Amino acid sequence: MCAPEHFAVEYAINPWMDVTTGVDKVLAVKQWDRLRDTLVGLGHEVHVLTPQAGLPDMVFAANGAFGVDGTVYGAQFKHPQRTAEAAAHRAFYQEHGWHFIAPSETNEGEGDFAYLPEAHGGLVLAGHGFRTELPAHAEAQEALGRPVVSLRLVDPRFYHLDTALASIDDGNIAYFPGAFSAASQRVLTQLFPDAVLADDEDALAFGLNLVSDGANVVLNSEATRLAGKLKAAGYTPLPVELAELKKGGGSVKCCIAELRP
Ligand code: ARG
Repeated sequence: MCAPEHFAVEYAINPWMDVTTGVDKVLAVKQWDRLRDTLVGLGHEVHVLTPQAGLPDMVFAANGAFGVDGTVYGAQFKHPQRTAEAAAHRAFYQEHGWHFIAPSETNEGEGDFAYLPEAHGGLVLAGHGFRTELPAHAEAQEALGRPVVSLRLVDPRFYHLDTALASIDDGNIAYFPGAFSAASQRVLTQLFPDAVLADDEDALAFGLNLVSDGANVVLNSEATRLAGKLKAAGYTPLPVELAELKKGGGSVKCCIAELRP
């Protein structure tokens, strides 16, 4: 994770960002602190990157890389405003002894890649259409040695895979069908017949931008119906308020890069 000390909406690279909207940095840090405390309270270890001035989106740590079984495929950001973030993530992984593979294709890490270790023997789901480019899916497959299933995102409000789909345990997902092309919806139905489906309201409330440890699901507090569906499916929803960061087009999952040793 990376604290939103320098968070601001200084440019608009997704439909949620409006440069005329003010950001309450103190509140953003407070909300982010609560998210980190929630993870620590669940027993997870949280490493933090040092926030850098001039990189207002660095709080969205999910975009810095994507790793599976100790191997990490680095990010190459689409927009120049975020390019420099990749080096901070790379340094973290290299300093901590991870096997880091530098990318040569545009991809935004966990923003567009999800891992399901128990689905069909270990599957990577990958989004394209807005940020990560299709050749990066093949590059990730070669880097990580896991089958990568390409899914096409078609609604600019759901510009990263993690705004519309999340793993809720090692073998199942929750997603909003409307964010995907008809063919990709079919693929998802075939692979995950028991998925939890979110409606557009919960998806627009960033409900799917969640993290789950397989039992506890940390999600945006505005996604109340999705929380109910997850509860009915046997999970424990833990709602957190992240209204300030939503102004940058992100929520829970965007703030967290998951480490998979
Ligand atoms: N403002 C950031 C961007 O548009 C938000 C990134 C959200 N991150 C995510 N994993 N969806 O790049």
